Amino acid sequence: MSDESRAIMKVLGGETLTPPPIWLMRQAGRYLPEYRETRAKAGSFLDLCYSPDYAVEVTLQPIRRFGFDAAILFSDILVVPDALKRNVRFTEGHGPEMDPIDEAGIRALKGKDVLAHLAPVFETLRRLRVDLPGKTTLLGFCGAPWTVATYMIAGHGTPDQAPARLFAYRHPEAFEHLLMLLAEISADYLVAQIDAGADAVQIFDSWAGVLGGPEFEAFAVKPVARIITAVKERRPAARIIAFAKGAGLMLKDYRQKTGADAIGLDWTVPLPLAVELQKDGPVQGNLDPMRVVAGGRALLEGADDILQHLGHGPLIFNLGHGITPQADPQHVAALVERVRGGRATDGKKD
Ligand code: CP3
Repeated sequence: MSDESRAIMKVLGGETLTPPPIWLMRQAGRYLPEYRETRAKAGSFLDLCYSPDYAVEVTLQPIRRFGFDAAILFSDILVVPDALKRNVRFTEGHGPEMDPIDEAGIRALKGKDVLAHLAPVFETLRRLRVDLPGKTTLLGFCGAPWTVATYMIAGHGTPDQAPARLFAYRHPEAFEHLLMLLAEISADYLVAQIDAGADAVQIFDSWAGVLGGPEFEAFAVKPVARIITAVKERRPAARIIAFAKGAGLMLKDYRQKTGADAIGLDWTVPLPLAVELQKDGPVQGNLDPMRVVAGGRALLEGADDILQHLGHGPLIFNLGHGITPQADPQHVAALVERVRGGRATDGKKD
């Protein structure tokens, strides 16, 4: 089956499908018992990311269980700083940690061995394209420079990304250098993922929402535009989804200035605004992941609301951020069934 006949690829090309295709951010993860089992066998989280046997297995688990329309490569956005030798580690109960970087460290960064370090990721993609059902879109991804930089500067996750915001004000040149280096590496990384079999790629800017106006432009829009331009120059058919969490009213401009084919919407984007954004092109989102934890009415009403507002245009049904470990897999099954029930029109024919 060719790329173009996969449902998500059709939506990324601007088509409206009823029912819309569905996948969930972080669909492979700790809410699945089979993931926890493979994770325990693999040892560390990075071993899981860098072992194609395990990474292929956990990527396929949610496809086998729920039949999602896309499989997303199992990896992490922080493999890029790991490849930049920032000593990334994931310790139980701590979240990700790495050596915090300073101005001198930024000047010393070298991007040249990054793709060699990430070779297991490309092997994982090549195997996935063979193992996946033909109709399933294979998604690659990377973190946006701003979000990756927030971890590199603090050395760990932070509630409001204050260390990176402060560093950017104090050392604007070094910070700009870091973002542009990450943009170049990310573009090479995404091109290599596409060449290894990814049908489309997503750029995760999870912490875009803490940026003020000029900073959003400089740290979120500009580096992502740079990545998308570079990827499309080299692979003109590439399809790219950009997810800038918390970007709200900036999203219209964000799509236009970055050149993203589709924009991801977090759950705080009001559906009437989402409808406006969909007039410019495909949207992806935006169910609150807590509705999946709650299940029942909260889950079904949330899904129906999205289908009613956005089901008449190009939509990839998704959550507004990653699924959480507390989510019950049965609730996920109920969500998929509801979306596939094709209730986009209130039951009325149009
Ligand atoms: O979506 C998928 O199923 C593919 C795999 C994927 C992971 N991380 C696996 C993972 C993807 C696409 C990511 C992206 C990612 N990683 C982002 C952007 C998306 C988002 O959720 O905002 C960010 C910010 C990270 C960084 C990261 N990785 C954090 C903050 C954490 C710890 C918090 C947490 O959820 O545990 C991770 C670890 C991580 N990445 C896990 C998984 C399944 C859990 C670790 C484990 O299994 O022990």
